[in-house]
Amino acid sequence: MSKAFKRTLITSALPYANGPVHIGHLAGVYIPADIYARYLRLKGEEVLFIGGSDEHGVPIALKAKAEGITPQEVVDKFHYIIKKSFEEFGITFDIYSRTTSPTHHKTASEFFKKLYDKGEFLEKTSEQYYDPTAKQFLADRYITGKCPHCANLNAYGDQCESCGTSLSPLDLIDPKSAISGSVPVLKETKHWYLPLDKHEPWLKQWILEEHKEWKPNVYGQCKSWLDMGLQPRAVSRDLEWGVPVPIEGAQGKVLYVWFDAPIGYISNTIEHSPNDWEKWWKDEASKIVCFIGKDNIVFHCIVFPSMLKAEGSYTLPENVPANEFLNLEGDKISTSRNWAVWLHEYLEEFPDKQDVLRYVLTANAPETKDNDFTWKDFQARNNNELVAILGNFVNRAMVLTHKYFEGKVPACTTLNDYDKQTLQEVANVKLNLEKQLNQYRFREALKEAMSLARIGNKYLADTEPWKLAKTDMERTATVMNISLQITANLAIAFEPFLPFSSTKIKQLLNKQQGLQWANLGAPYLLEVGHCINEPVLLFEKIEDETIATQVQKLQDKKEANAALSHQTTPQKPNIAFDDFSKLDIRVGKVIDCQKVPKADKLLQFKIDDGVGERTIVSGIAEHYAPADMIGRNVCFVANLEARKLRGIESQGMILSAEDADGKLVLIEPISEVKAGSQVI
Ligand code: 2FM
Ligand code: ZN
Repeated sequence: MSKAFKRTLITSALPYANGPVHIGHLAGVYIPADIYARYLRLKGEEVLFIGGSDEHGVPIALKAKAEGITPQEVVDKFHYIIKKSFEEFGITFDIYSRTTSPTHHKTASEFFKKLYDKGEFLEKTSEQYYDPTAKQFLADRYITGKCPHCANLNAYGDQCESCGTSLSPLDLIDPKSAISGSVPVLKETKHWYLPLDKHEPWLKQWILEEHKEWKPNVYGQCKSWLDMGLQPRAVSRDLEWGVPVPIEGAQGKVLYVWFDAPIGYISNTIEHSPNDWEKWWKDEASKIVCFIGKDNIVFHCIVFPSMLKAEGSYTLPENVPANEFLNLEGDKISTSRNWAVWLHEYLEEFPDKQDVLRYVLTANAPETKDNDFTWKDFQARNNNELVAILGNFVNRAMVLTHKYFEGKVPACTTLNDYDKQTLQEVANVKLNLEKQLNQYRFREALKEAMSLARIGNKYLADTEPWKLAKTDMERTATVMNISLQITANLAIAFEPFLPFSSTKIKQLLNKQQGLQWANLGAPYLLEVGHCINEPVLLFEKIEDETIATQVQKLQDKKEANAALSHQTTPQKPNIAFDDFSKLDIRVGKVIDCQKVPKADKLLQFKIDDGVGERTIVSGIAEHYAPADMIGRNVCFVANLEARKLRGIESQGMILSAEDADGKLVLIEPISEVKAGSQVI
């Protein structure tokens, strides 16, 4: 039984203000959230749609340091760029604030204090790296060193970006502080932990039993976290940038960014409605829906709910419709590699085409799996769907009305069976559309809206009013009346998805009032005799040259990345021949290959090394599917000391090279050699 709610609070992940926003952000979070908010508002429901910038955390502090400016200067710059991009794409936040606002600092600080006073935290002292020169503790990202797995000299204390292995700072060989370059020392420090293990029983009941309706990707990820067993999580950090930990003796410590960021949803509600914010968060009749990307699932489904529960007076999210990732032309979108279509650039290069991108990103939304954005697909969807189906129908209805009825809605006299059937199909769209929207299936919902334009095109093609007009003006009038009623319905159906085009259709029809969601499907939206405006095309064809320019722009980025990666990986110092001959590189045949659970980047290989079988863990899961590896001949370092990765003993290292796109490519002999053969 679904609960009856009085109002809906919609939150959307707060993007980090350390760079502009790109198509992945729009597709993953903000377009679906906006469609949902617009839809509920159109139905007359009470909605509050929260957005804002996430302005704390180590990457922002690091960026400021690298650029010689303050973290505040970094976030000031990007907050406004991000906010403007969202506005221009028609994302209808009721508030777009930021986590550096005084309201947020106060709210987050009080939230922490309440949990602290209630004894909801564990206090633990542990040894962490400290920079004796800079006189500060080092966040994992502030420590660099040699990766024990692939020997990359610039691995970070949380991850090696070269081989993708997750690391802890203590794994790094020859660690160095990224702040002063000096060798860090281990020193004791105290932190506060949220005991997620204590929350596990109710979380299991709440998610696994009471929220089986959550999207399978969300439910599945939660289940695997819960099955593994939860551990206490530190909610403070030794850092200058953030919300200070509000207790005695916590100088130099701030709230962990993932503790303060979701509280940003609450702070922004307070900022928007200082007098009645509690109704959104503390009344069971409010439905809270959090739109996020898949990398945020654990924080929104496990950590944030545990924080809310520990506080005691808040309602938990009713649903967390997370999307998977959108890739760009086959590669993961990356801010640091500049591999993205930036929204502010799109707006400059495709003025007045916000709806084209909104359409393409919804039609191709990564709702159930990662999806790929390509410029070719963008062009095809614009030309073959928006122009050829939606735009074409609306234009024909407009042009024919002007041609035969001087731009006035003609009278609909007698309906034949085909008219009735068409109007029935139009009426049916609403139910299907709502069903999909209510279940957060925006791709399918968009298809439903588009089906209305298809119905219209088919109706015109079958009735051929341009032929009818030669013999039967009464029948032509009926056909054009119905076509115009379908056009008016399109303005309603597309309003959540393509708000700019919906407004244009209303302008074309000269009809600003009376096109409410409640009327969707009705055949009487335009009165007989109503004057419509002159036809103007809704969408225009996108030419091959425009697409070629964008593809070239991406190609240039790839080349720039490749050049940069060569510059940043200088040749290592020469070694003696003796050192070289110590290396034992061999060819092995892959017998089995599996993904390592919970490690996005790791594959576990079983290899025939000529004398037996050995296990090697390799960070190439993002580049190869395990099934494609079986039977391949790979080169591996056979005499590398064994080491454990994610609890699996890896007996060697498989060799690969990085291509121009940063993709790892396996090194394979060009013809068959026996397993165990030495590479010399
Ligand atoms: O992943 C991110 O971009 C985070 N800044 C999302 C934060 S969501 C919420 F908790 F604010
Ligand atoms: Zn590595």
